[in-house]
Amino acid sequence: MAEDVTGTPGRLGSGACDVKGVPRLHHLHYHARMCGIFGYAGKRTDAGVIAIEGLKNLEYRGYDSWGIASKCGGELLIEKNIGAIGEIKSEDFSGRCSLSVAHTRWATHGGVTQRNAHPHLSEDGSIAVVHNGIVENYLELRRDLKAKGHTFLSETDTEVIPHLIEEELKKSGDFAEAVRSACMNFDGRYAILALHTKSNMLVAARTGSPLIIGVERNAGHAAASGYFIASDIPAFIKHTRVVQYLDDGEMAATNGRSISFMDICTGESRAKREIKITYRLEQAQKGDYEHFMLKEIMDQKESVARAVNQDEGEIRTIAEAIRRAKGTFLVGCGTAAKACMAAEYFFSVIAEHHVNFAPASEFKMFHHFLKPDSLLIVVSQSGETADVLEAMRVARDKGAKVLAIVNVEGSTIDRDADYTLLINAGPERAVASTKALTGQLAVLLLIAYALSERLKDGKTLLLESASAINDMLNPRFVERLEELAEKIHENDDLYIIGKSWNYPMALESAIKIQEVSYVHAEGFAGGELKHGPIALIEKGSPCIVLTGADEALQDILSNAQELKARGAMIIGVGPQKFEVFDEWIKVPEAGTAQAILNIIPIQALAYFLAVKRGKNPDMPRNLAKSVTVK
Ligand code: M6R
Repeated sequence: MAEDVTGTPGRLGSGACDVKGVPRLHHLHYHARMCGIFGYAGKRTDAGVIAIEGLKNLEYRGYDSWGIASKCGGELLIEKNIGAIGEIKSEDFSGRCSLSVAHTRWATHGGVTQRNAHPHLSEDGSIAVVHNGIVENYLELRRDLKAKGHTFLSETDTEVIPHLIEEELKKSGDFAEAVRSACMNFDGRYAILALHTKSNMLVAARTGSPLIIGVERNAGHAAASGYFIASDIPAFIKHTRVVQYLDDGEMAATNGRSISFMDICTGESRAKREIKITYRLEQAQKGDYEHFMLKEIMDQKESVARAVNQDEGEIRTIAEAIRRAKGTFLVGCGTAAKACMAAEYFFSVIAEHHVNFAPASEFKMFHHFLKPDSLLIVVSQSGETADVLEAMRVARDKGAKVLAIVNVEGSTIDRDADYTLLINAGPERAVASTKALTGQLAVLLLIAYALSERLKDGKTLLLESASAINDMLNPRFVERLEELAEKIHENDDLYIIGKSWNYPMALESAIKIQEVSYVHAEGFAGGELKHGPIALIEKGSPCIVLTGADEALQDILSNAQELKARGAMIIGVGPQKFEVFDEWIKVPEAGTAQAILNIIPIQALAYFLAVKRGKNPDMPRNLAKSVTVK
């Protein structure tokens, strides 16, 4: 009998601390929203400025409002604002500041107002807290705290945190212990960073949303000179590449000179190893590009080759595990789900092997088919997506093994999986996933070739494709897509069709266009048109037709004819030009890797459609980069 797949609320009380004192993922709801957290404690005196710089590198995680609190010359300075992160007004933040917390918000509880922006303070103003996630039982806690004389200034769930820590501090007198005991009262998944002006400490706690510690050392010194604590590495990579990952159910406490880790439930201390981050600083920056999205599209000149560069022995081992598994399931969300769906075609056409795809959010409906010798392959850029973590939990409960294909090393999915393949795309900052998708497709295609005992052929094909992408992404090609966007950007509806692996790419094209340009875009399997969607076609409707030099070609061209006969404007994407096309975007021929190449011009088209329609493609409305909410 399957266990309850929704889990029970994630209170870190005694109920959740039952297994070796570790709060178990399956006890937790995935309700945390995406926000960016940054903190610094150490010898530097520009902690305020560092925090604002760090926050700007986390803005992709939320951009409703932002705020900072920094201890400068004995005083706690605070600035909060709605909208994108601006410059801090007060010059006081620039010197004498060695302790700070900062936050960029994606609102959940309480509207987007300056008052609701983090940090939130304790009654006496000595504790400042930033928070990612939801304290699900905040109403109850607020009522109790009010009865004890606490006043609340915001509508947020977060504000109960500093007030409760303050109450606990009265009991123990120890700040880290006060944070720990406060955490035992919170339901939900979260990451918390608390600053205490009196003890000059920063304390971080994690039960779901990521928190990573950056350790700074002056050259030639073994002792640390400062600690950064953030939701993601780009926030502090300028200062240090040495990191320590906080795991679920763990806390860290630092006074800027040393750091200690402990288990939230038991208070027992934990050892942590330091890990050196290898990616280059420029990979996390925009460089000369106006937007991260365009920069990341162009990064595909190199990133696909990096994804292909996997250890052949490992790929063969994985192929063998798939061959032996009693059922292989592929799950992901959004764009990563489209990679999984394309892989279903790769495995069928190339290796004649059946795998089962489901969007991660639907996976639990299929748990009956999981056996201890089943294999779940999860695909995720961020490695933090709640629905994927939930699918992993469902699989684990059945004793199945999990292989993760992720971009972010050290992410929760990476660390929770039995085995991980990294796609090495480098940091992907734009909300729209681009280079991560092509890396995921490349790795999945490579595995399909290994499964058909033709790994070398697959690798050669993919490396040739990577080099073709490098050639394709030339200035003339990009300009051509900008011209096409200029032609069609005023159309409110756009359709994309494909067949075989170009069908999931048609669905992906629609996501890309929708999320950044807000144009109503829909993707279909070409053969499905005549079963309904063709009724939408009007004179001049732009329809993108994804093609390849493959067995699906004649069928998709017939579908294009059907559209053209209803007055559609046909935009062909693929290696060959056909009469039915009104416009043609030439893409190099790539055989079974065609999907990887075909999606790239659509990414660029989506980007230019957004820009031409006056939207910021890096910050689409209502979305956040990694969806840590179920
Ligand atoms: O980080 P993940 O790959 O797990 O994220 C999955 C989706 O949330 C993500 O692909 C989303 O659909 C993108 N915004 C699409 O561009």
